[in-house]
Amino acid sequence: DQIELGPYPHYMLKEIMEQPETLRTCLRGRIDRRDGRVILGGLAQHTRLLARAQRIILTGQGTAFHAGLIGEYLLEDLAKIPARVQYASEFRYRNPIIEDGSIIIPISQSGETADTLSALREARDRGAFALGVVNTVGSTIARETDAGVYLHVGPEIGVASTKAFLGQVAVLTLISLYVGRRRFLAEADVARYLEALDQIPDHINTITQQSDRIRDVVEQVIDRDNWLFLGRGFNYPVALEGALKLKEISYIHAEGMPAAEMKHGPIALIDQGMPVVFVATRGSQYEKVISNIEEVRSRGGRILAVASEGDTNIARYADFVFEVPDVPEPLQPLVTVIPLQLLAYHAAVLRGHDVDKPRNLAKSVTVE
Ligand code: G6P
Repeated sequence: DQIELGPYPHYMLKEIMEQPETLRTCLRGRIDRRDGRVILGGLAQHTRLLARAQRIILTGQGTAFHAGLIGEYLLEDLAKIPARVQYASEFRYRNPIIEDGSIIIPISQSGETADTLSALREARDRGAFALGVVNTVGSTIARETDAGVYLHVGPEIGVASTKAFLGQVAVLTLISLYVGRRRFLAEADVARYLEALDQIPDHINTITQQSDRIRDVVEQVIDRDNWLFLGRGFNYPVALEGALKLKEISYIHAEGMPAAEMKHGPIALIDQGMPVVFVATRGSQYEKVISNIEEVRSRGGRILAVASEGDTNIARYADFVFEVPDVPEPLQPLVTVIPLQLLAYHAAVLRGHDVDKPRNLAKSVTVE
């Protein structure tokens, strides 16, 4: 392998731990903090078209779909454009409706995923403008889009995607701010988000330093074969991604869902000692999440909470707390996903699995 592992036992861990630097590279040259501006060269010629978009469809598979779900929340919240994410494999075959002013955003690390590529082709055939969010320069999806923003996170070796997800979410944040500024978002608000975004690499550093502690916590629940991951709002997709990471490399059965959905069925699964991971940072739905935590706790679930730094309240409800720095709500996925990546990594290592080459999975799936 050409890329050196350095001090790390696995590529996945290297890719997790290097995310501060990776994110800096992704953001480099794209943030003008002084003028509160986002600079995205690939969009410069299409600004008017983007600002007038009637509807945005985000599409992808696997981790890219989860990034797309965050993109949906971001585009609606920051740019006020109706946005929906769809699995590329489903979108392609449902006779999709493309109206004037529809934009498709295919999201893909490899740029070669067959389902995503055929969804892109279908949407373009029907008249959509395509804006790619791709990592691999010159890949098929990148070549077949009308415009795009590369992730610039470097090649990802670990089969379970980590840094590419971070890059996808960061780029979707930039796109939302870029388009939002040309619609309703005030310069001061953009400037405030950009300032916060600029600090995220340092925040990630403080989270990755908790790696050993996360391993110690995981060790205490590693014998459990069923886990739940719950979150609300911007942290709901993060819960889905946390569950996917755990499944992919540790082969532990995990489900992610909106925290409120649990009481409509999955709550029946909770028994004594079942690990339930809550992404419960401060924000508009904090109190609601706390009551969801209480519901699980009263049924014997073991609570692992990703919480905001200095939140002493949550320690009363959770068995274990992983702290992340406070950031504005739309940016929270960029920090809350990090402990979940480490959690999945340590679970897989503790169970003795080959983290970088999980069974049955391929880095890129080029068949439909
Ligand atoms: C495969 C990988 C996943 C990835 C998905 C989409 O299933 O195992 O980790 O999220 O493909 O890949 P892409 O390259 O399109 O982002």
